Amino acid sequence: MKKTILLLIIIVLGTAVVATGATKKTNSDKKKFNCVAVVNNKCETCHYKSRICAQLGRRNRRKWRTTIKRMVSHGAIMEKDEIEALARCLAASRKNADICR
Ligand code: HEC
Repeated sequence: MKKTILLLIIIVLGTAVVATGATKKTNSDKKKFNCVAVVNNKCETCHYKSRICAQLGRRNRRKWRTTIKRMVSHGAIMEKDEIEALARCLAASRKNADICR
């Protein structure tokens, strides 16, 4: 009987640890903006990313924001904070960035 209770406690604790770990992971996934994935999924629907890569290192965040907003006016589907995050990461990227590989 004692053994069963002990076993139960271990199982419950184990599940709790796994559950918290899983929640933490989802949270950080949400926070970490994946520049490469966004470019691949949202920017390459109309043109090759070579167009983007040709401009890397030449634009600051404000100019990238303007570019992305122009893409939205062409029909790109971007959330407001997605535009901000992408503008930041494109401004920080150089020609040989992960995005262009
Ligand atoms: C709905 C179609 C569409 C989508 C989606 C799209 N673009 Fe474009 N893009 C265009 C068109 C059309 C042009 C050429 C006309 C122009 O430059 O406005 C272009 C040209 C460009 C250029 C070259 C012109 C310049 O300003 O140097 C860049 C850079 C660019 N796009 C970046 C992006 C980025 C970054 C994304 C993703 C957020 C994206 N595009 C998504 C349609 C699109």
